[in-house]
Amino acid sequence: MTRISRTEFAERRQQLMEQLAPGSIAIIPGASETIRNNDVHHPFRQNSDFMYLTGFAEPDAVAVLVPGREAAQYILFVRDKDPEREIWDGYRAGPEGAVADYDADDAFPIDDIDDILPGLMEGRSRVYSHMGVDAGFDHQLMAWVNQIRARVRLGARPPEDFSDIAHLLHDQRLVKSEQEIAIMREAAQLSARAHKRAMQACQPGVMEYQLQAEIEHECMLGGSPWPAYPAIVGAGDHACVLHYIENAAPIKDGDLVLIDAGGELEYYASDITRTFPANGRFSEEQRTLYDLVLRAQLASIEAVKPGATWIEPHEATVRVLTEGLVELGLLKGDVDTLIEHNAIKPFYMHKTGHWLGMDVHDVGDYKVGGEWRVLEPGMVLTIEPGLYISPNNTDVDEKWRGIGIRIEDDVVVTRNGCEILSADVPKDPTEIEALMASSEQRLS
Ligand code: GLY
Ligand code: MN
Ligand code: MN
Repeated sequence: MTRISRTEFAERRQQLMEQLAPGSIAIIPGASETIRNNDVHHPFRQNSDFMYLTGFAEPDAVAVLVPGREAAQYILFVRDKDPEREIWDGYRAGPEGAVADYDADDAFPIDDIDDILPGLMEGRSRVYSHMGVDAGFDHQLMAWVNQIRARVRLGARPPEDFSDIAHLLHDQRLVKSEQEIAIMREAAQLSARAHKRAMQACQPGVMEYQLQAEIEHECMLGGSPWPAYPAIVGAGDHACVLHYIENAAPIKDGDLVLIDAGGELEYYASDITRTFPANGRFSEEQRTLYDLVLRAQLASIEAVKPGATWIEPHEATVRVLTEGLVELGLLKGDVDTLIEHNAIKPFYMHKTGHWLGMDVHDVGDYKVGGEWRVLEPGMVLTIEPGLYISPNNTDVDEKWRGIGIRIEDDVVVTRNGCEILSADVPKDPTEIEALMASSEQRLS
């Protein structure tokens, strides 16, 4: 399994420090545990920005970058060693481990941060941090600044400028390295196996959550410790609910089943959607709309290449879907006029994709200077057109109602076009039917 190397973490910190203003300091907090109830916590996941820079997965840590400082430029504040707590909760690296295993130039117990950090900030003109994301951290940051201000008459120099680090850091995270792409490829491949397993396990009478179990089982077997986001398993009308996560209903004969699920691997997400017939055979109407969404998806993927703008794949989708819905009589009028007025909205109400990376809806600006971003090699995005014909839409012939379809792949921009990371899971309807027919469980 590919992992981000210590060298790459060091290069990330170096690259960020080169972007920071001279005489500045960056303070990046990690995540803390959140309580579920009494002594039980929600599963802990490190904050992605912090993880990206440090590789350090313990709660209650703060990373400090002080570019140009002679003594130490990279400082970690971490939980101190605690033999008693470690019996209950497991290993802690402690400050020594933070230096030895995570390459901090220096490290201190997090409990000492109020005593040490103001000294590191003093004399630095600019502070970079996250602003307005975590009210507790904002408050703490100002308390450290005020500690320095309180000593102005003794000659202390508090920082004057405060900058949000998100912009610089997220631009850096947007373009993925070879190691990151290798991990994302593995994440997509193991998730593809999970989607295939769910297709094969599906038959009328199975509960939506049972297909979720098939997906999560296979993802975990593949090395993914947790899902990249809560799985959506929607059968029948539920496929028309974009963020349906109840997954609690029985799957009926004649339903289409929409599964949007992906495992996370080494802190990188996959995000795949497939739609297939519960009984293994598309009905005529299902197949007609499915073919249309697939045509839109293929046209959209075709538009992913360096030099294209972010919006071009979406525009390709909207054109294909609008033309198709006019042909089928679900929309009426001139295609260009319908596109101009976004007439497709009752059937297709989301954009065709988003950045993908450590976060499923990953960081990075979609516009730069007011213009749609130009795609560059190493950017990873999803392509996920859909059609959702509400069961309550009385404007369309009854035969179309309650059909929800989305087809979602993860693609990385390459030098010549793009690579589909999630290509292992079939989306051609004939291949889907063949895969479902080949399932031993269906035959038994
Ligand atoms: N799974 C969330 C999305 O597709 O954007
Ligand atoms: Mn998705
Ligand atoms: Mn998505």
